[in-house]
Amino acid sequence: MNSTLRPSQTPAPLVNPLSSTNGKHSHNPVLSNFDVFANRHIGPNAEEQAAMCAAIGVDSLETLIRETVPESIRLKQPLHLAPAQTEHEFLADLKSLAQENKIFKSYIGMGYANCITPPVILRNVLENPGWYTQYTPYQAEIAQGRLESLLNFQTMIIDLTKLEIANASLLDEATAAAEAMHLMYAARTKESVQNNANVLFVSEECLPQTIDVLKTRCEPLEIEVLIGDHTTLNWEKHPRIFGAVLQYPTVHGEVYDYRAFCDAAHQHHAMVCVAADLMSLALLTPPGEFGADIAVGSAQRFGVPMGYGGPHAAFFATKEEYKRLLPGRIIGVSIDAQGGVAYRMALQTREQHIKRDKATSNICTAQALLANMAAMYAVYHGASGIKSIASRIHALTTLLAKSLVKLGFSLANDYWFDTLTVSFEYASTKDNIRKFALTHGMNFRYSPDDAPKPFVGISLDETTTFNDIQIILVCFAKATGRDLTRIGFDDLAQQADLTHFPPTLKRESGYLTHPVFNRYHSEHEMLRYVKHLENKDLSLTHSMIALGSCTMKLNATTEMIPVTWAEFGALHPFAPLDQTQGYQRIFKELENALCEITGFADVSLQPNAGAQGEYAGLLTIRAYHRSRGQAHRDIALIPSSAHGTNPASAVMAGMNVVVVGVDERGNINMDDLRAKAEQHKDNLAALMVTYPSTHGVFESTIKEICDLVHSYGGQVYMDGANMNAQVGLTSPAMIGADVCHLNLHKTFCIPHGGGGPGMGPICVAAHLAPFLPGHAVVNIGSDSAIPAVSAAPWGSASILLISYAYIRMMGGAGLTRATEVAILNANYIKARLEKHYPVLYSGENGRAAHELIFDLRDFKRTAGVEAEDVAKRLMDYGFHAPTLSFPVPGTIMVEPTESESLEEIDRFCEAMLSIRREIAAIEEGKADKTDNVLKNAPHTAHVTSADNWAHNYTRQEAAYPLAWVRERKFWPTVGRINSTYGDRNLVCACPPMESYMGNQVESLQAVGSV
Ligand SMILES: Cc1ncc(COP(=O)(O)O)c(C=O)c1O
Repeated sequence: MNSTLRPSQTPAPLVNPLSSTNGKHSHNPVLSNFDVFANRHIGPNAEEQAAMCAAIGVDSLETLIRETVPESIRLKQPLHLAPAQTEHEFLADLKSLAQENKIFKSYIGMGYANCITPPVILRNVLENPGWYTQYTPYQAEIAQGRLESLLNFQTMIIDLTKLEIANASLLDEATAAAEAMHLMYAARTKESVQNNANVLFVSEECLPQTIDVLKTRCEPLEIEVLIGDHTTLNWEKHPRIFGAVLQYPTVHGEVYDYRAFCDAAHQHHAMVCVAADLMSLALLTPPGEFGADIAVGSAQRFGVPMGYGGPHAAFFATKEEYKRLLPGRIIGVSIDAQGGVAYRMALQTREQHIKRDKATSNICTAQALLANMAAMYAVYHGASGIKSIASRIHALTTLLAKSLVKLGFSLANDYWFDTLTVSFEYASTKDNIRKFALTHGMNFRYSPDDAPKPFVGISLDETTTFNDIQIILVCFAKATGRDLTRIGFDDLAQQADLTHFPPTLKRESGYLTHPVFNRYHSEHEMLRYVKHLENKDLSLTHSMIALGSCTMKLNATTEMIPVTWAEFGALHPFAPLDQTQGYQRIFKELENALCEITGFADVSLQPNAGAQGEYAGLLTIRAYHRSRGQAHRDIALIPSSAHGTNPASAVMAGMNVVVVGVDERGNINMDDLRAKAEQHKDNLAALMVTYPSTHGVFESTIKEICDLVHSYGGQVYMDGANMNAQVGLTSPAMIGADVCHLNLHKTFCIPHGGGGPGMGPICVAAHLAPFLPGHAVVNIGSDSAIPAVSAAPWGSASILLISYAYIRMMGGAGLTRATEVAILNANYIKARLEKHYPVLYSGENGRAAHELIFDLRDFKRTAGVEAEDVAKRLMDYGFHAPTLSFPVPGTIMVEPTESESLEEIDRFCEAMLSIRREIAAIEEGKADKTDNVLKNAPHTAHVTSADNWAHNYTRQEAAYPLAWVRERKFWPTVGRINSTYGDRNLVCACPPMESYMGNQVESLQAVGSV
């Protein structure tokens, strides 16, 4: 990952003249007896599959699939994909493909920096399934580790930006700036709304990819983007500006004092968002202190590899008054049933996508794993470490600047933190430098060929050495025929003060003062802290996480290994394409495979989460209608059962949402659909449909639904969250859709990382292909492309390797078998549990798809038990709860995936059956209605081993309800969390240490609520 690892020189292989006989030998089974990856990925073996079929009451897996997936949508041909590779073959092939990526020293900057991932974090967080396989911490009692780490992230961001509240990450800097635009727009005063204040000012010195994404997001909402020079902005001439976006330091490296700008903005009722470089804030006055209302940016350079574009965590900080408009998740502090400090996601009902078409953001999956890495980087280095890293980068930049000036170059910037812009009279000077730099393995930022003033940009970072500075100077001198001895380099390097930013912007305030940033600086301490947190969290390393709609399947080690290879991790997203040919080939192969799997014609790998895919897909539909002179088509029909991101994305894409009802079987209500499609036929833009439905059913009417929408001139958007039930059996194109997104972090094995990263590429039919997103910096997409939806051209490129690996190692047959077994596992659970828990919906033949919903609502009446009680009680058995109350309140949705073995599924079923007996005991009056194992769940070790035990059941019943639990016990570290308390007393930064001792409630209140 770090640039120290270079591709090795491999000797040329010997040509094998016998290779033509290889085919013959491979017919001998002994000679082709390789370990098959699909057999590792898929849980139940052939014998177990047969036994499970018998339990379901079908004679074979084929019969089950026939009874589940409607014949009319079955694929007629098997998937045509490259044959499956073994894990060993895959890694060997990928290693040679990796050599086609060239690791040049990157000085490109533009929001991405080389950095050093402390090895203790690399191995124990990024490469550790104990950190990357958890789900978003909705079940907070078994997620205290990552919640604490994400709280550290928020505290770090609050400290460095000096704003009052921060979220637990967004997708990238450009989309974070776009989220800020939405917030500023939503927060307009009544007067501004009346005055139709709909102009966003964007400094021309913002990162180009940020400007591009802002344009994308503003256009459908009819928000005008005014790009200009902030120093000459005439506010009187532009009275409709509601918000401004500035860059600090700018793309050219300039460091402006924005105080006067912020004052002027506020006087004109406009808000200011500053996109800031996190490292620079260690030295510079933070945005919160010079009047900014919002600070956004990327935490990438805090120890997260560039990865050719991602994944990295973006941050978002603002003032307390905007907490309900803040996009993304916020971690907060509360108390548990015993009054102890406990963390959980705060103010969940204000999470934007829950507000559906009233939302101001569609963000759902974010970048939790990378936020954790960045937070750990701050924990590892502490304030003084971060300050000395920033000071060193800045001093090297100043030394380079002074040397360049001595060499006779002119700098375009007056001040800098880490970036210099060297400007020239003639483009030929720039070209000579480029030529020289390329031959010596260096990438700088170059002005476009048509720029009025040619320049070369140089950004330094944590990895830059003294020697690197000298090499850069040699490069500039030799390429332009200048005399290096003029510099007096040694004298310059001896200068005491190498600070060069405006004196008014010297940071005076402290940061990272909390003990967590000051006690884990030795590696032993750090390692133990990382492990201490990891041990609090239930992940796939412990047991199955049967979260319906989330597809928590195996994230195989072989799929993960290449992500941290330097050839993939160390590339800048804007590196010249001829240096990234390995990546380009992987993208092409992955795109082809996704086209084959979906039946579509083209793919964009840019959207970096499912909801971003929804948004991008809807924008292609919008562009398509416009290209045909039908710009008026703006109605999106969305079933009431759809995920909240669907309506949120539709509104962001400028559409009006019309909700379509579902019938008692959970299917789209055809009468309602017909009526609404007819009613809106002139303006129908799209139908958004999830297939199989979020109710876990393959609706047999799906083709009819798609035909109906097409007949009224609309397009069909398929939400691909449930693609794990389709691959190889049917496809989005087969059912009649025009575009879909794929959650690669569900079906295609990217781990959930505790709430991200993810990837949401979109696949489209041929007529939508011309509109797939382009990019402002890297030339992709057609002439009709919509502007970018993400900061990087291929989104979070480095994790595409995971999905690529999965497809290469499974092959077409393996992928199809995985889908079949996913359906088998769900139907097996149905067969085992349906007599005890009513199953809400099933298909025409009584079969579930790959997930199913158990209805727990009646237990409230019979035993006072709620779905949440069952969810919490499952923790005592060592299981994470299935999806709770989505899409139907009072239910749980179970999705076992194909990767779970029969043994594990049986354990889950036994736990559910045991819980049913516990409910029965309450129903029959044998257990107390309020003091019982469900209401008091989960039980911590502390509670169970306390001297006092005042319950009506035994400690044994509380903690070890089944024999096998004893051996596999996972202890929740806090009791049931009081969410209401936490929301009423909102604390979103690390609480003082005293709050962990003595009277927690008092000390939490002393922190004050945000
Ligand atoms: C059905 C459905 N659609 C869309 C999404 C949003 O995807 P993402 O979280 O990747 O943005 C989800 C997320 O879980 C989902 O379940």
